[in-house]
Amino acid sequence: MTQDKTPPIVVAKNLRQVYKISRGMLTKPDLLQAVGGVSFTVQPGKTLAVVGESGCGKSTLARMVSLIETPTAGELRINDTDVVTASADQRAALRKVVQLVFQNPYGSLNPRKKIGQILEAPLEINTSLSAAERAEKARSMLALVGLRPEHYDRYPHMFSGGQRQRIAIARALMLKPALVVADEPVSALDVSIQAQVLNLLADLQQELGLAYLFISHDLGVVRHIAHDVLVMYLGHAVEQGEKKTIFESPLHPYTKALLGSTPGIVGSGSANTRIVLKGELPSPLNPPSGCVFSTRCPHVTDRCRAERPLLRDVANRQVACHEAEQFIQPAA
Ligand SMILES: Nc1ncnc2c1ncn2[C@@H]1O[C@H](COP(=O)(O)OP(=O)(O)OP(=O)(O)O)[C@@H](O)[C@H]1O
Ligand SMILES: [Mg+2]
Repeated sequence: MTQDKTPPIVVAKNLRQVYKISRGMLTKPDLLQAVGGVSFTVQPGKTLAVVGESGCGKSTLARMVSLIETPTAGELRINDTDVVTASADQRAALRKVVQLVFQNPYGSLNPRKKIGQILEAPLEINTSLSAAERAEKARSMLALVGLRPEHYDRYPHMFSGGQRQRIAIARALMLKPALVVADEPVSALDVSIQAQVLNLLADLQQELGLAYLFISHDLGVVRHIAHDVLVMYLGHAVEQGEKKTIFESPLHPYTKALLGSTPGIVGSGSANTRIVLKGELPSPLNPPSGCVFSTRCPHVTDRCRAERPLLRDVANRQVACHEAEQFIQPAA
């Protein structure tokens, strides 16, 4: 991960989330491990992108970091406060530090409220600003996210998808958070609009010094916005490090497969090692023993089926693969 002297805004160590799936009153619930021990840091002003296929645990991670769910195990510190043991007051304070932006900007905006009211609601609840001061702040936030003053009196349905996502971003910023958790914030948008919203997020990061935990299944999107990348598969981090390292010289066969299936990225040094994913994603209720990727990995060995590889430092990133060394490309 990007090394920096400033203290991280998020420190996660071995974060785990296990859900109980009830099958009726008399049977013991099944245990589904959605996140199985993930560690990372997010630096102020930087973006950690979390990528992986559907069901790999990205949103679960997002819910833990945004204080919606408490981890089953592991350590999570935000702004140097231990989230798991935090008092009610500390959690309330942290809720202003961390804000969320979701995939579906329409579902998250109250259709009966005008944009001005939507933006002012967090101020009404959390500050003692007067109505005039709140309106002033809402209007300047509209400008900051590239909307116009007259939008203040309009309703969410009067906006396009991209504009609605700007509104959701504006609302998230009203309390001046240090960290924005964005869960697939552009996945519902047309590709042409995606770029505009990504540019806005990048500009806001520059201007306000925001840190992002940016969730996406799309490496094409991540390439534009990430500083660091964490690749997840079936609840586990399989590879993580600086974006340049991960994109230019991926080591984990799953990372290579993801990169190979992303349009416009093949040829960035990974073309000669292209891996096409075969087979089904295993059920998280019944994960493979050994390496979680072993059932789909073209390089699988007996050891991989028997022994789960730990994340370890190899060639400037962390990778969970017994065979990682053999994939290191000699420098060109
Ligand atoms: N509240 C819950 N109760 C039980 N299982 C859950 C719950 N939330 C998520 N899961 C399961 O945990 C796993 C991880 O889900 P999660 O939503 O975090 O994945 P994701 O990577 O965000 O997927 P997607 O790309 O589809 O959004 C999945 O198998 C999912 O079915
Ligand atoms: Mg999700």
